[in-house]
Amino acid sequence: MRDLVRRYAGSVEQLARAERVIPLGAQTFSKSRTQYPLGAAPLFAVRSQGSRTWDVDGNEYVDLVSSLGAVVLGYGDPEINEAVTRQLASGVSLSLSHPIEEQVAAQLVDLVPSAEMVRFAKNGTDATSAAIRLARAATGRDHVIALGYHGWQDWYIGSTTRSLGVPVATQALTHAVPYNDLAAIERVVADFPGAVAALIMEPMTSTFPDPGYLEAVRSLTQRHGIVLVFDEMLTGFRLAPGGAQEYFGITPDLSAFGKGLANGFPLSAVAGRRDLMMLMEDIFFSGTYGGETLSLAAASVVLARMATGEPTKVLADIGERLVSAIDAARSPGSRAFLDFTGHPAWSFLKWTVADATTLNEVKTLFLQEVLRRGVLVLNTHDVTTVFTDDDIAHIAQAYAEALAVIEEALAEGDVVGRLECQTLVPLFTLRT
Ligand SMILES: Cc1ncc(COP(=O)(O)O)c(C=O)c1O
Repeated sequence: MRDLVRRYAGSVEQLARAERVIPLGAQTFSKSRTQYPLGAAPLFAVRSQGSRTWDVDGNEYVDLVSSLGAVVLGYGDPEINEAVTRQLASGVSLSLSHPIEEQVAAQLVDLVPSAEMVRFAKNGTDATSAAIRLARAATGRDHVIALGYHGWQDWYIGSTTRSLGVPVATQALTHAVPYNDLAAIERVVADFPGAVAALIMEPMTSTFPDPGYLEAVRSLTQRHGIVLVFDEMLTGFRLAPGGAQEYFGITPDLSAFGKGLANGFPLSAVAGRRDLMMLMEDIFFSGTYGGETLSLAAASVVLARMATGEPTKVLADIGERLVSAIDAARSPGSRAFLDFTGHPAWSFLKWTVADATTLNEVKTLFLQEVLRRGVLVLNTHDVTTVFTDDDIAHIAQAYAEALAVIEEALAEGDVVGRLECQTLVPLFTLRT
C-alpha cells in the first residue's frame, strides 16, 4: 500500500488542486480519474518524448496511449518540431486564410481515396459533426445510423447512455448499431424509410470486418441514397497511408480525420466527394482556428511521411512484435481471460471474465499493476513508429507480471482484495 501512496503523491495532490477550479480536474474524460484509478495511477504528466511519458511524480512510462492515439510518429518528432518552429516565426493565426491550408488539403487529396475536397477543424468531433450536417443538407433527411464513437456533440452522444443535456428530439434521430451486423442496419433503414441521411462508422475497431460486410454496407447505402461516412479518427493514419478506406478498398462518400493527422497538434479534417463538400458553401461550418498554421505545418510533415508508406509498415511490424512478445512472456493461464484483437497498429485488450463486476475489478487491477511497472495503457495499444526493442521487452515483462497477479486473484476468487484503489466503472455504454 505505502509504495503506491508515495509513488502517486504528486498526482493526488495535483488532482485536489485541479478539482478546485476544473470539474473532474481534466479536459478529457480519457485522461481523468474516470479512466485511471485514483491513488493507483498517474493523473498528470509533465513531459513526453519519443515513446516515453513522465508523470508529475517523476515516474517514467512506456506510453501505449500515445495521447489517445493522436501521436503516431512518436512525441517530439524533430522534423515536425522544426516545421512548426519555422511557421511560428511568421504567425499562428492570421487574419486571412494562409496558403498552407491549400497545401495540406492537396496532400490529403493525394493520399486519401475518397478525398476530392477538404475542410479543416480542430477536434475530431468538429469533423464528424460537419460530415453529418453535410449529409443532412444533401439528402434533406434527419436520421443517422452510427457505429462506434464519434465525439461529444448532441447528434452522437445522445445515442449513448451519457445523454444528459441532449434534447430528446435529437436523441431520437441517431440509431446506434453494432459492427458486423448488416441486418441491424437494414432494420433501421426499414423502420425509417427514406429518412436516413447518413451512416457514420469507424471502418474497424477491435475486430476485422467479416468478409463482404463493408462491401454490403457500401452498396446498401448507395441503394438507399444514404451518405456513407467513415470516421477514420484512429484508422486514418495507422492502417494504411490512405486510411482504412485504402486498406479495405472501400470508398466512402465522406471521411473524418483527426488523431494522427498532425501527430498531436490539434487538427481534424472532413474530406470527401466534391458535390457533397461543395455544400460547405451553403451550410454553416466555420471556426476561428480552422486554419491555424502550426498544426497545419505539423500535418504537412506527417502527410509527407505517410505518403512514403513507411510509417504504416513500421507500425504494423512494431504492433505485431509487441503482441508476440507479450504472448511469449505471459503465462498460458492468462489466455483464459485476456486476448488481443484488431489490427496490430491499434490492437485491443479483450477481457473474458465471467461477470461485469469482476470484469471492472480485473481491468482496474490490471491498470494498477502495469502502471506501477512503468507502462501507461488504457484498453488499446496505440503504438508509435519510435517504439524500440527495449520498450517492447519492458511492456512484455510488465504485462507478464501483472497478468500473473490477476491469474492468482481470479483463482482465489478475490480480485478486489488486491486493489489499492476504487474499482473503475465504464463511463458510458452504447445503446445498441
Ligand atoms: C473514432 C473517433 N471519432 C471521433 C472522436 C472525437 O474526436 P475528438 O475527441 O478529437 O473530438 C474520437 C475521439 O476519441 C474517436 O476515437
